[in-house]
Amino acid sequence: MDKNFYVTTPIYYVNAEPHLGHAYSTILADFMARFHRMLGYDSYFLTGTDEHGDKISEAAESKGTTPQKYSDEISGKFRATWDSIGIGYNDFIRTTEERHKKVVREILQKVYDNGDIYFGSYGGNYCVGCERFLTDKELVDGKCPEHNKVPEYIEEKNYFFRMSKYQDWLIEHIESNPDFIRPERYKNEVLSMLKGDKLEDLCISRPVSRLQWGIELPFDNNFVTYVWFDALINYVSALEYPSGEKFAKYWPSVNHIIAKDILKPHGIFWPTMLKAAGIEPYQSLNIHGYWNMDDAKMSKSLGNVVTPHDLVGKYGNDQIRYFFLKEMTFGSDAKFSEDVVIDRINYDLANDLGNLINRTFNMAGKYFDGNIPETSADDIAGTGNLKANLESAINEFTSHCKKFQTSIGIEKLWEFIRSLNKYVDEYRPWELARNNDMEKLSSVIRNLLESIYAVARLLEPVLIKISPEIMEGLSMTGVEVEFSSLSSLNNLCTGAALNRLPILFPKLEKTIKEAIETEKKDNKKKAAVEGLIEFDEFMKVDIRVAEIISAEKIEGSDKLLYLKVNSGIDERNIVAGIASVCEPEKITGKRILLVANLKPATIFGKESNGMLLAAKENKKSSPQVIFVDNAIPVGARLG
Ligand code: MSP
Repeated sequence: MDKNFYVTTPIYYVNAEPHLGHAYSTILADFMARFHRMLGYDSYFLTGTDEHGDKISEAAESKGTTPQKYSDEISGKFRATWDSIGIGYNDFIRTTEERHKKVVREILQKVYDNGDIYFGSYGGNYCVGCERFLTDKELVDGKCPEHNKVPEYIEEKNYFFRMSKYQDWLIEHIESNPDFIRPERYKNEVLSMLKGDKLEDLCISRPVSRLQWGIELPFDNNFVTYVWFDALINYVSALEYPSGEKFAKYWPSVNHIIAKDILKPHGIFWPTMLKAAGIEPYQSLNIHGYWNMDDAKMSKSLGNVVTPHDLVGKYGNDQIRYFFLKEMTFGSDAKFSEDVVIDRINYDLANDLGNLINRTFNMAGKYFDGNIPETSADDIAGTGNLKANLESAINEFTSHCKKFQTSIGIEKLWEFIRSLNKYVDEYRPWELARNNDMEKLSSVIRNLLESIYAVARLLEPVLIKISPEIMEGLSMTGVEVEFSSLSSLNNLCTGAALNRLPILFPKLEKTIKEAIETEKKDNKKKAAVEGLIEFDEFMKVDIRVAEIISAEKIEGSDKLLYLKVNSGIDERNIVAGIASVCEPEKITGKRILLVANLKPATIFGKESNGMLLAAKENKKSSPQVIFVDNAIPVGARLG
C-alpha cells in the first residue's frame, strides 16, 4: 500500500479573524503532516477559508465593503498568520476560487442527474451561526446551544439533497469502520443522531433574491448553493477532483480534523454527499474539543479571543506548539490559561529537556573537549536498558500520535526524557571523572548525546525551529539517519565537535509570571479610575424581562406604585417611583426590565423585591419607564 497521508483543517469562515481555536486545529494538522513525513509518508496538508453565505455578506455589509474585498482581506490574514507561525500547508483553498466553484458545480450536476437533488418546500429553524437548519431535538430552551441564539424560522422553496436515502448505508459504514469517526464518543454521538429519527433531507440552496453570495446552481440560475454543500467540497476540489493526480493519490488516505461544533455536517452531510457523488468515503474524521477561557468557548462573539500572533510573540513559536499539543487531550475540552503555558515552558521544556541538554553538553565540554566520545562495546553503562526504554518510548509516541492523541504520545516521550535526567544522577559522571573511569564516562556521555539526538528527531514535528538547532549542536545537520535506526543509540559521529547551543528554553522567572499578574491588576485599576467596570461585574446584575400583573397606588405617597410582577422565575412585589408618569390600569400587562437580584428593601411599609428600570433625562425630570416589546419572553435575561 502507498504510504500517503492527506490531512485537512476546517476551512475557516472569513467573518472573524484567526484566533487560538483556529490556530490549534491548524497546528495539529501541521504536526500530523510533519509527523507522518517523519515516518516516511508522503504527506499533503490542506487548509483554507470558507467565504460564501449570509454571515460573510452581512459582515462585509457592516464594514461597508463588498463580500469579495472583505473575503480577500480576512482570508489574507489567515494565510499571513499561518505563515508567521511556520505552518507548512501544501495548499490553501478559498471557496471563491474558480477551481473550487467548478468542482462544486460538477458535483451538483452529477448528484442532480442521479435524481438525488429535488425541488421542494420546507420550513424550519435556521441558525445563521451554524449555517444550517436545526432539528427540534437539537434546540435547548428553544435556542441553538452552540450560539445561544433563537434560530430564525425560514420557509421557502428550495433544492434538497436526498440525504435520507443514505441513512442506513451510513450507519452500516460507521459500524464496520471503527476509525471512521474518532474518538469513540463522537462516533456514538453521530450514530445516535442517525438511529434516533429518520434523517431530514438537506436544504442545499438559497434563492438568488435573498442571497447572491454563493455558487449558482448549474441547473437553475435562480438559486445559489447553500454553505455546506459548497464548503465541504473544498476537500476534493483542492485535489482537482475528478481527474487530478493529487485526487487519485491522496484522497484514499484523507484524515479530516475538526472541532465538535461541526460534527454533524462532517459526520453526516459529507459522507452521504460523497456516496451520492460516487466518491469513496473519507478515511477518518478526527474531532477535538474546545479551548475554553474561564469555561466559556473562545469565540469572537464572546469577546474572549487571544490571537495566535500575540501569544507566539510573547512565549515563542515552538513553546506554544508544545503547549497546544501537550495540553489538550484529544476529544476533550481544555482550559487555556497563560499560567499553564508558563508552567509547561518552565517544567517540561526548561527543566526536563533544556536542563538535560545543557548539562550533557557541559559535561561533554569539560571531560571530552566538546567532542563526541565513544561508547564501549561492553554494556558497562546501562546501554541495553536505555535502548529498550527508548524503543518503547518511540513506539508509544508514534502509536498514540497516529491516533491524534498527541498529549499521551508526548507524555510518553517525556517519561523517557525524565528517565535520562535520572540516568545522569544514577551514573554520576563527575564521580567517574574523579575516579578516572574514562571508558564508562565516555559511554555515559555518548549514550546521553545519542538519546538527545533521538529525542530531538522525534520532536521535529513539534519543535520545528528548536529541534534543528539541537541537531546542529550535535553536528548532525544534513546527516541522514533512518527513522528505524533512532533507537540504536549509534547514530552520531565519534569525534565530531559539538557546537555551542544558546539557551533553548529561557525560563520564565516568577517575575515575568508576576508581571503578567501585575498587568492584569493594572488594567483593573485603570478601569476603576476611568469609571469602567469589568464585564463580569456587569453580569452580576440580573436584569430580566418581567410582566406587570397588577399595580396600585401606595397610600400616603404620590410618587410610588406597588407592583406585582411575573419575573419568569417567580411572582413578586416591587415598589417603583413612577406614579407621576403611569396610571396603574394602563401599565398592567406591559413588560418592563427588572433588576431581579437586588436586596429586598422596605419602602413605605411595603417590601420591595427588585427594581424596574426607568430613564431620566436629568435629575429633575420625571422618570420614563423602559417598556419592552411583548415579543421578548418573560424571564429573558439582559446581556
Ligand atoms: N467554515 C466552517 C467549516 C467548514 S469546513 C468544510 C466553520 N468555520 S469556523 O471558522 O467557524 O471554524 C470552526 C473550527 O475552528 C472548529 O471546528 C475548530 O477547528 C476551530 N475552532 C474555533 N474555535 C475553537 C475553540 N475555541 N477551540 C477549539 N477549536 C476551535 O465552521
